[in-house]
Amino acid sequence: MKGILVFVSFAILSHATVIVPKIKLLDGRNVPAFALGTWLGNNTKGRVEPSSHEVEDAVTWAIEAGYRHIDTAFAYKVEDQVGRAVAKKIGEGVRREDLFITTKLWNSFHARDQVAPALRESLKKLNLTYVDLYLIHWPVGQFNNLTYDYTDYVDTWKGMVEAKQLGLARSIGVSNFNQSQIDRLVQSGLETPAVLQVEINLNLQQPSLLSYCREKGIVVMGYTPFGSLFPSKAKEGAPPPRVDEPALVEIAKKYNKTVPQIALRYLVELGVIPIPKSLTKSRIESNLDVFDFSLNQEEKDLLKSYDKGYRTIPQLKWVEHPYYPFGDQI
Ligand SMILES: NC(=O)c1ccc[n+]([C@@H]2O[C@H](COP(=O)([O-])OP(=O)(O)OC[C@H]3O[C@@H](n4cnc5c(N)ncnc54)[C@H](OP(=O)(O)O)[C@@H]3O)[C@@H](O)[C@H]2O)c1
Ligand SMILES: *[C@@H]1O[C@H](CO)[C@@H](O)[C@H](O)[C@H]1NC(C)=O
Ligand SMILES: *[C@@H]1O[C@H](CO)[C@@H](O)[C@H](O)[C@H]1NC(C)=O
Ligand SMILES: *[C@@H]1O[C@H](CO)[C@@H](O)[C@H](O)[C@H]1NC(C)=O
Ligand SMILES: *[C@@H]1O[C@H](CO)[C@@H](O)[C@H](O)[C@H]1NC(C)=O
Ligand SMILES: *[C@@H]1O[C@H](CO)[C@@H](O)[C@H](O)[C@H]1NC(C)=O
Repeated sequence: MKGILVFVSFAILSHATVIVPKIKLLDGRNVPAFALGTWLGNNTKGRVEPSSHEVEDAVTWAIEAGYRHIDTAFAYKVEDQVGRAVAKKIGEGVRREDLFITTKLWNSFHARDQVAPALRESLKKLNLTYVDLYLIHWPVGQFNNLTYDYTDYVDTWKGMVEAKQLGLARSIGVSNFNQSQIDRLVQSGLETPAVLQVEINLNLQQPSLLSYCREKGIVVMGYTPFGSLFPSKAKEGAPPPRVDEPALVEIAKKYNKTVPQIALRYLVELGVIPIPKSLTKSRIESNLDVFDFSLNQEEKDLLKSYDKGYRTIPQLKWVEHPYYPFGDQI
């Protein structure tokens, strides 16, 4: 009987399920070292709006491929789709405690007493009783009528701590905060953010921010991990490399991997949790398949040389806000 069970589980595992390593957070919990992104992005006409079940399908395929960490946000308008996929997979035997769901507080809810209610709204859409990680999406507050909210993000952070104490989020962190903003939170005497989520890709490697976070024990999630790698999605004027860069193609060939996989593996080796987004089943699967090889020093040095401090998502529309985070880098 036992032998049959072992055989069956081996048969399932051998069908391309990747086992993702975990990273320990400051608060003692573990986070899977790779996540699926769920922001639909912008096209030439602006924001891509959700249609029906495209993200639900992507999250379903991702969990089947071995992803255990899903990154979403109130602002992406897809929390309901994430929730349906998660509920379906739990119904099929995946345990809630083996999944790690991250979502984010939008800029319009920065008042301290709005944080827990905003998270409750996300939880209702997600059909969950708690999220594993709640992040302040941006340090910049802005009401729905587009006027700025000048709430101090330290007050917002107090609301995050309260939401955690209420059991609505197991871990809390921030996104798009710069080093001095994180340091203000660290110095505030409140708990230190467990996670920073920021843009990290070949063009924007942020070595000093990463070393600051390492020193403080803050785990970094890297968004827009492909940057301008794909010509059809590259920002005008973005520095190389593109996906056909001969030096990258050569490294990929050596490991029987693709260039996107090399870009993701490099982030893993920097200690960063990559968050690639894809709605395409084959890409969802191949993106995750980066835990069976490692890059050598010479290859990492080459990949490091692509760092030009070039930001894909500067959100210049908020540049006048006193808490705009990227002032020194534009
Ligand atoms: N905290 C923040 O402020 C913030 C900001 C931006 C992003 N994020 C998070 O980070 C996630 C990822 O960032 P992102 O969506 O900006 O960009 P990304 O993951 O770097 O790139 C996504 C694009 O790459 C394509 N793609 C994915 N894998 C591919 C592959 N193997 N080969 C070719 N093309 C591939 C996808 O196409 P298909 O979908 O058509 O396959 C999609 O168009 C977001 O979804 C979101 O969860 C957070
Ligand atoms: C996406 O487009 C919207 C307008 O539809 C704009 O407000 C937003 O800043 C854009 N986001 C990025 C990251 O370019
Ligand atoms: C919400 O989750 C519960 C289980 O926790 C499940 O029975 C229900 O079908 C889910 N609802 C949706 C809309 O997915
Ligand atoms: C915008 O919304 C905020 C919060 O609801 C309100 O305090 C402010 O007066 C509004 N401003 C304008 C110009 O409508
Ligand atoms: C190369 O990778 C592909 C796709 O993952 C796989 O199907 C193939 O067996 C690999 N080839 C070798 C020689 O490992
Ligand atoms: C960080 O953000 C603050 C605003 O809160 C800004 O004054 C400062 O210049 C920023 N630092 C960097 C390195 O961009």
